[in-house]
Amino acid sequence: HAQITKPPLTIRLCEPRGFCAGVDRAIQIVVLALKKYGAPVFVRHEIVHNRYVVEGLQQLGAVFVEELDEIPEEHKNAPVVFSAHGVPKAVPEDAVRRNLFYLDATCPLVSKVHKQAMRHHRLGRHVLLIGHAGHPEVIGTMGQLPPGAVTLIETVADIERLQPEDPSALGYVTQTTLSVDDTAGLIRALEEHFPQVQAAAAESICYATTNRQEAVRMAAPGADLFLVVGAPNSSNSKRLVEVAERAGAGRSLLVQRASEIPWDEVGDISTLGLSAGASAPEIIVDEIIEAFRARFEVSLDLAITAQELENFPVMRALRDVELTAA
Ligand code: F3S
Repeated sequence: HAQITKPPLTIRLCEPRGFCAGVDRAIQIVVLALKKYGAPVFVRHEIVHNRYVVEGLQQLGAVFVEELDEIPEEHKNAPVVFSAHGVPKAVPEDAVRRNLFYLDATCPLVSKVHKQAMRHHRLGRHVLLIGHAGHPEVIGTMGQLPPGAVTLIETVADIERLQPEDPSALGYVTQTTLSVDDTAGLIRALEEHFPQVQAAAAESICYATTNRQEAVRMAAPGADLFLVVGAPNSSNSKRLVEVAERAGAGRSLLVQRASEIPWDEVGDISTLGLSAGASAPEIIVDEIIEAFRARFEVSLDLAITAQELENFPVMRALRDVELTAA
């Protein structure tokens, strides 16, 4: 029978993409806790914002809850893991009160932001947190300090509305997964309105966010379509979609699985940009490339901007498990 020739497609694959060291560590903590203590292991909130990861861990015996009071009385001795996004101080305090054994999988780079916020506070500064309302990381960072000590800044309008008690005693931190460009704009506005505002002693946007955005910025110009593998509640993934659009991709979409690719809208493209958010497993990137291979004659073109060597070790309590498992 006649060979049907597939149209050519160049996939510009971003590197780095996908799992960051904080996500990798959080998943390891749940897996190792299951090995060491057996099922069930409770996890407060989606350990990382990815359904595929969450379902995989559920199959191993992890049970996801939103709040600690959902842990049934008969499982009070099972460990509970806090997600990579971090938690308000009240959560570990509550765990202690309930006599629960917890493992905190907060990314060390989120903990670093917590420390910077606490430092501003200790130095007598009102803390401004640049971030997105409702995101668990924002809730966690605000919850490091007493109510009223932190004000969330989402837009320039929020800055214009600010009426701090003492404009000379302000300090800011940011969410770790923001758009590098948008954040720079907000910081500029902050400094214009409040020239004495103090930056944190260390950058809040994390290496993984910065690197993934940079690779997208390199791959996006001229791409007919740009796909970012990630969940709709994943902050860093959504930022990658925006970065791709702004850097000149014809169109840019967030997809969780290959099955979500809207083929009727894809049309006859010749260049596709592809990246994955920090919580998206590589297996889904492969799945998407395969889905395109079924319809196009694909050639891969890597857009490499950095090599990541970061690796965050798990807590001491789980290190022995890791060793025996190796
Ligand atoms: Fe941590 Fe950044 Fe990943 S804060 S969890 S390394 S996206």
